[in-house]
Amino acid sequence: MKVGAVNSLICLGIESTADNLGVGIATPDGTILANEISTHVPAEGGIHPREAARHHAAEIGNTLTSALKAAGIRGRDIGIVAFSQGPGLGPCLRTGATAARALATYLRVPLVGVNHCIAHIEIGRLATGAADPLTLYVSGGNSLVAGFESGRYRVFGETIDIAVGNCLDTFAREAKLPYPGGPAVEQLALKGNQLIPLPYTVKGMDLSFSGLLTAALEALRSGRWRLEDVCFSLQEVAYAMLGEVTERALAHTRKAELLLTGGVAANKRLRSVIGSIADEHGAKQSFVPLRYATDNGAMIAWTGVLAYSNGVRTPVETSYIDSHWRLDQVEVPWRR
Ligand code: ATP
Ligand code: FE2
Repeated sequence: MKVGAVNSLICLGIESTADNLGVGIATPDGTILANEISTHVPAEGGIHPREAARHHAAEIGNTLTSALKAAGIRGRDIGIVAFSQGPGLGPCLRTGATAARALATYLRVPLVGVNHCIAHIEIGRLATGAADPLTLYVSGGNSLVAGFESGRYRVFGETIDIAVGNCLDTFAREAKLPYPGGPAVEQLALKGNQLIPLPYTVKGMDLSFSGLLTAALEALRSGRWRLEDVCFSLQEVAYAMLGEVTERALAHTRKAELLLTGGVAANKRLRSVIGSIADEHGAKQSFVPLRYATDNGAMIAWTGVLAYSNGVRTPVETSYIDSHWRLDQVEVPWRR
């Protein structure tokens, strides 16, 4: 391929579904040239969508500049602009989409709207070399088990209320632990050893974490248990629930690879649960490196390359965000 033709497929991706603003740059052969992230840290409490969006609007210029600098390219080298079109928080998504539309129009290059959850899987495949994995994607906003089947990513199981990361963060906030809560709960759990009875809620292939959160908070407030034991039990129950659904999906799909991604994939206990399930079923286990497991622009840029190379275009006029865009609604022509 001529240099001009390669350049025309360099994709800049903007990620802005929640508190991370990310700008990534990917080439058609899957080289990540840049992956810049600017995170909004709430002054207190949980994430506030409009404040996070204000942060993204203020930081997008700097983050774009740093990404181009890190990649060693100029704006005119960009051939495609991709953006996270959903699911996510409306004000945050709209800010990223507005920047993407402006940039694509200014550079006169095509725009590609990317599904955030699919991007998590695609960067996972790229980063680990997994070809056709069953994926457990666990973060502050999502908890689902998905795999490719008959032209689309299918959801085999998912939370019917809050995500596991949200459960950990809310618990940690009430327990006056630092934000984000997942790592703090993990550290304390290492010092716990008593399993407190907490609700284990798996309904068919779906999960519910809200009852577990309420019960863990009640256990904390009762004063009957050590915080370390509540953290330990919260993790044990949450990860056993995730493990059960993942294992059944693995047995059903007979996939040969199991991929763990999302911010909660940093957790060592969850990794060990997922690792033993993979071993038991003879599947290869892959953990997405953290810089690509948490929200990032590289995954949007890379999925933009895949989609664009297979005919996907998002005209600016119809590039509305969709905060509830499900991954199983998306055509995936690059995996046909
Ligand atoms: P999404 O938009 O995909 O839902 P997100 O905005 O929640 O993503 P991520 O960075 O993917 O962002 O995930 C953040 C979550 O990961 C938080 O809930 C955080 O507590 C959790 N987390 C981070 N490290 C750990 C850990 N070591 N153990 C458990 N949870 C963790
Ligand atoms: Fe995400």
